[in-house]
Amino acid sequence: MPRSSATRPLRRMADPATADGGARSAAGSGSAARGPSITPVRMGVVDVPEVADLEREIFPDAWSVDSFLAEVERRNEIGLPLVVRERGALIAYAILWFIVDEVHLGNIAVRPDRQGTGIGKAFLRWILAEGRRRGMSLCTLEVRPSNVAARALYESFGFRQIAVRRRYYHDNREDALVLALALDPSAESRLG
Ligand SMILES: CC(C)(COP(=O)(O)OP(=O)(O)OC[C@H]1O[C@@H](n2cnc3c(N)ncnc32)[C@H](O)[C@@H]1OP(=O)(O)O)[C@@H](O)C(=O)NCCC(=O)NCCS
Repeated sequence: MPRSSATRPLRRMADPATADGGARSAAGSGSAARGPSITPVRMGVVDVPEVADLEREIFPDAWSVDSFLAEVERRNEIGLPLVVRERGALIAYAILWFIVDEVHLGNIAVRPDRQGTGIGKAFLRWILAEGRRRGMSLCTLEVRPSNVAARALYESFGFRQIAVRRRYYHDNREDALVLALALDPSAESRLG
């Protein structure tokens, strides 16, 4: 994931997110593969302190409160910050950016005590469906080579490595792998 968002464009508002979670990716096919039912909604200002607390718990190079506030202020065409709650408790969040025909997954995390229970997979399936619904051709993201769980998740959806950003992460100077998935068959050729 990119480790700062301060320079990116803006929005706000707590409209429920709209995609239905249907997916055409390998990991998303078939109802048996669906796992837990989740309902992502747009992150609002009120969510930010809790999201930032969870972010600090999870990431060594956590985004700041201000970075999340900037995401909440983005216009809907440019970015979509999301939270997933279960009986009011925050269990996951994600940040999406829409860049021409590309949806970039800027951040995604599941609460540690709920990791490994299918929430990440359901959330990513929902995100890819939202990208398709908006007419996006590609989904891209960065991931640490050492992040075995995240890489396995992305690979299960068919993401492929398209580049390496050397010494990308500030905390340990680890490289970032840039992964991409074609959301529409005509974009396959762009992945090399
Ligand atoms: C990465 C993350 C979002 C995945 O969400 P999750 O809810 O834990 O994942 P799921 O339970 O939906 O599992 C989905 C797939 O991920 C992979 N996976 C999950 N946990 C794994 C682990 N500990 N080891 C290896 N693979 C793992 C598997 O491929 C799994 O599919 P399977 O169950 O069919 O084998 C979550 O673990 C997380 O928040 N990690 C910390 C933050 C982070 O690294 N974010 C991504 C930054 S790029």
